Amino acid sequence: MCGIVGILGNEAVAPLIVDALKRLEYRGYDSAGVATLENGRLDRRRAPGKLRTLEEKLRREPLSGHAGIGHTRWATHGTPNETNAHPHATERVAVVHNGIIENYRELRDDLAKQGVKFESETDTETIVHLIEAELNNGKTPEESVPAVLSKLRGAFALAFLFKGGDDLMIAARRGSPLAVGHGDGEMYVGSDAIALAPFTDRISYLNDGDCAFLTRKGVTIRDKDGLGSVVERPVQKSNASAMVIEKGNYRHFMAKEIAEQPEVVGHTLAHHLDMSAGRARIPEGIDFAKLDRIAFSACGTAYYAALVARYWFEKFARMPVDIDIASEFRYREPPLKEGGLAILISQSGETADTLATLRHCRAQGMQIASVVNVPTSTIARESDAVFPTLAGPEIGVASTKAFTCQLATLACLAIAAGRARGVLSAEDEERLVGALIELPRLMAETLKLEPQIERLAKDFSKAQDALYLGRGTSFPIALEGALKLKEISYIHAEGYAAGELKHGPIALVDEKVPVVVIAPYDTLFEKTVSNMQEVAARGGKVLLITDEAGAKEAGGEFETLIVPTSYAFVSPMIYAIPMQLLAYHTAVFMGTDVDQPRNLAKSVTVE
Ligand code: F6R
Repeated sequence: MCGIVGILGNEAVAPLIVDALKRLEYRGYDSAGVATLENGRLDRRRAPGKLRTLEEKLRREPLSGHAGIGHTRWATHGTPNETNAHPHATERVAVVHNGIIENYRELRDDLAKQGVKFESETDTETIVHLIEAELNNGKTPEESVPAVLSKLRGAFALAFLFKGGDDLMIAARRGSPLAVGHGDGEMYVGSDAIALAPFTDRISYLNDGDCAFLTRKGVTIRDKDGLGSVVERPVQKSNASAMVIEKGNYRHFMAKEIAEQPEVVGHTLAHHLDMSAGRARIPEGIDFAKLDRIAFSACGTAYYAALVARYWFEKFARMPVDIDIASEFRYREPPLKEGGLAILISQSGETADTLATLRHCRAQGMQIASVVNVPTSTIARESDAVFPTLAGPEIGVASTKAFTCQLATLACLAIAAGRARGVLSAEDEERLVGALIELPRLMAETLKLEPQIERLAKDFSKAQDALYLGRGTSFPIALEGALKLKEISYIHAEGYAAGELKHGPIALVDEKVPVVVIAPYDTLFEKTVSNMQEVAARGGKVLLITDEAGAKEAGGEFETLIVPTSYAFVSPMIYAIPMQLLAYHTAVFMGTDVDQPRNLAKSVTVE
């Protein structure tokens, strides 16, 4: 989390840095700051809260330097106040940091023993004092940074400016992402290419352990924390500038991203399907016929996408599937098979736990595939095979369109695996592909339920707790519905497999707790209806989300939202939409910050 930007420019860079930080605000937004070199002297402005507070401060007290670094923060160590905001600085060095320095306590204690006084509670401030110590020992900035990097444990992307060094910026990466932007007589660093899009489309990505020494003329990169040899990192043309990251006529990015789903799911399907042949494209480099199982790993919403995919892979390809939350995976030490396949799922492609899992699986000799939305991300770059989701930039912190695009991609892969393993006949495949081809239209139909969902949300916003129930692939959708609601409305919500209700959660049911039941009319419908009756018998308020046939069967007994009828196979992508809209409108009623909910960040680059 946290976004960082650095510019060696030819005009006052503070406004440019703030603009770039706005594009990184999805990474954290609890405080922000900028430092520039003013006639060789470091000066900085920092402010708690959103970037607009920093912008106002800069209007009152402008910075005019042509070299600068900036930061938008998601607090790890220390509350989000001005003192803990980045850049951290002494008179001679300023730094911005994304990541966590794990051994900061021992470093801080050592420095304190030497008489260093700390102003903040952050792990980052240790870095500036360590650099100071190196400078005091007569080292140059170029020597000081590598010397300090070798003392740090943990994850970081860092950018440094030095007093008197108007044509020098040093940047380093271990774990957290960092890109270098190449301009004409100007150079940039940023947490991603999107941040640098207004300045340049020529980007090189630093590898872990790289340290970059930038001047306005170019960059020299050394590996091994700057102590190794000079290395070349290819300059790639980024298409980030083509990406529209405007809200358009929507009130929130989340609303826009929900509405975009038919289109982006359509693009994603077009990539993974040969629609005219009625076939799923067999992915290059992965031979499903030779595999005996797949290990999926991901976090949050992406993990729920894996849970849905398990049903598909088991049914269509008869493949056993293991799924782990990425933060648990490597510590569980599961026996992994050399040559086996791990599939990592991630919107950002930078999630620290998912990336660590990737590297763990790689070290065990597994093949690595990933389903990612950001093709230039670290997870994509470290994978043997990448199955892209074509959702476009997702800015709202709560994942919506990335989730349904992950599902669409995984559905295509499961079909391809089924064919490769001889489980699906050509007719089966054509039927399943046909269901996917219809999906964007059905999703567009489902979006038309928005006014009705908005009315339901008004009541929902009065609840303090909510339960979401589903069976089969609707179970992970229930988990996703509960996650969406709690993260943006702050209403406590839990998702359960409907059959689990009477094993505990039914104790929570009373007339104040809404119970959302996701039940397409399929082979499991009747069983789910029994669970609804159990809720109703205890005075619980059921909201049934089903299709025409399900509504008829339920007999009008419950409050019902009727979504378009579809093949059971594609129902997760359809039922995800009312989950998103219900959470969205509930949050709007409650007046929360929908796109940037409290305590969260879009890209979770710390463990
Ligand atoms: C929830 C949400 C998170 C992410 C999770 C993984 O709405 O967005 O749970 O799904 O942090 O992020 P990625 O997909 O970037 O790895």
